[in-house]
Amino acid sequence: MPAFAVHTPAQTYEAKVERGALAQVGGHVPAKAGKVFVVTTEDVWRHHGSTLTTGMGGRSFELLFFPGGESRKRFSEVESLAEQMVARGGDRASVVVAFGGGIVNDLGGFLAAIFMRGIPVIQIPTTLLAQVDAAVGGKTAANLVSGKNLIGAFHQPLVCLIDPDVLATLPEREYLAGLAEVIKAGIIRSEGLFRLLYDQHEAVRARQPEVVEQCIADAVRIKCEVVSADEKESGLRRILNFGHTIGHTFEAESGYTRFLHGEAVALGMIAAIHLSVMTGYLPEKESLDMLECIRRYGPWPIAAGLEPERLLARLSHDKKTIKGTVHFVLTPKIGATEVVSGIDERVVLEAIRKTVE
Ligand SMILES: NC(=O)c1ccc[n+]([C@@H]2O[C@H](COP(=O)([O-])OP(=O)(O)OC[C@H]3O[C@@H](n4cnc5c(N)ncnc54)[C@H](O)[C@@H]3O)[C@@H](O)[C@H]2O)c1
Ligand SMILES: [Zn+2]
Repeated sequence: MPAFAVHTPAQTYEAKVERGALAQVGGHVPAKAGKVFVVTTEDVWRHHGSTLTTGMGGRSFELLFFPGGESRKRFSEVESLAEQMVARGGDRASVVVAFGGGIVNDLGGFLAAIFMRGIPVIQIPTTLLAQVDAAVGGKTAANLVSGKNLIGAFHQPLVCLIDPDVLATLPEREYLAGLAEVIKAGIIRSEGLFRLLYDQHEAVRARQPEVVEQCIADAVRIKCEVVSADEKESGLRRILNFGHTIGHTFEAESGYTRFLHGEAVALGMIAAIHLSVMTGYLPEKESLDMLECIRRYGPWPIAAGLEPERLLARLSHDKKTIKGTVHFVLTPKIGATEVVSGIDERVVLEAIRKTVE
């Protein structure tokens, strides 16, 4: 089974990618652990609960349902889950299993990070986006009214179990949105992954198991390498924001209702590719392959009707600005990045215009 190590100053753990990995969850619960709390949503449990139960191998656990949805990714829900844990005998020896999409991974991870000042969490992501991005790396969060993911903690899991088989039940739109993050991984760090996505797009879109497993394994390997080099996003980890700086403005400007996160990232990558060409970092010829690869996983929702000037104004409000300066992750070629600041606003506006048109 491909297993990738994540090294952080506090801890080393593995992200395991394997079809059928759900069947092994019980083996990852420490023998001396107390109560196990599985945090999940009803839809995920309906589809995959029986597999997880079998995978627990007879280990008893308590089920905690979370309603799901970005609007419920709130501190009040973390508090309510914590109250339920106490009521059901949770203590410092308890373990959380976060079993669901990125929202459950973020919220369940946050719950574990602060319950009794911190207990272990096992991450079991069930959307493609969560498998290749949200569940690996230890970032946990909840939303504030003032913005997404504005409270949270770094809390690395005991293990991250990634089972591509669970994707069989994922709606098409969620699957394609997750693929945007896989394309991102290829563009920023792996020409091999990029070529796989480009050449075998029909097999990837049809969810052919071996190809999907390969894509996930490559993307997870890249995320593990980057997080190991820079857990807290002071340097290398920033390259994971490729397509996100402008992508976030699409999400925010449309009130987080029109685009799935991955869809906004796809549009943000198109903008970042245009910007890379316009600033002279990327030869136009090479940009065509990147744009074509993204197109092969579309059609993406169009951004028509969003005002480029308003999107530009939102850029400086992004929480990833550093002392007010917007840093863009650009790409000079497939598999490489360049972090650039101080780009003329008019050039950024033009790149946004080209994407929105
Ligand atoms: N911590 C990080 O580093 C990080 C990185 C990227 C994204 N995120 C966060 O992840 C969240 C988005 O995650 P998401 O895209 O997975 O959305 P999500 O968690 O809302 O899941 C999407 C939908 O799919 C359902 N679902 C999950 N697995 C399924 C399956 N196997 N079959 C059928 N349905 C299934 C979910 O219940 C939900 O309705 C955002 O809140 C974002 O901030 C975090
Ligand atoms: Zn993302």
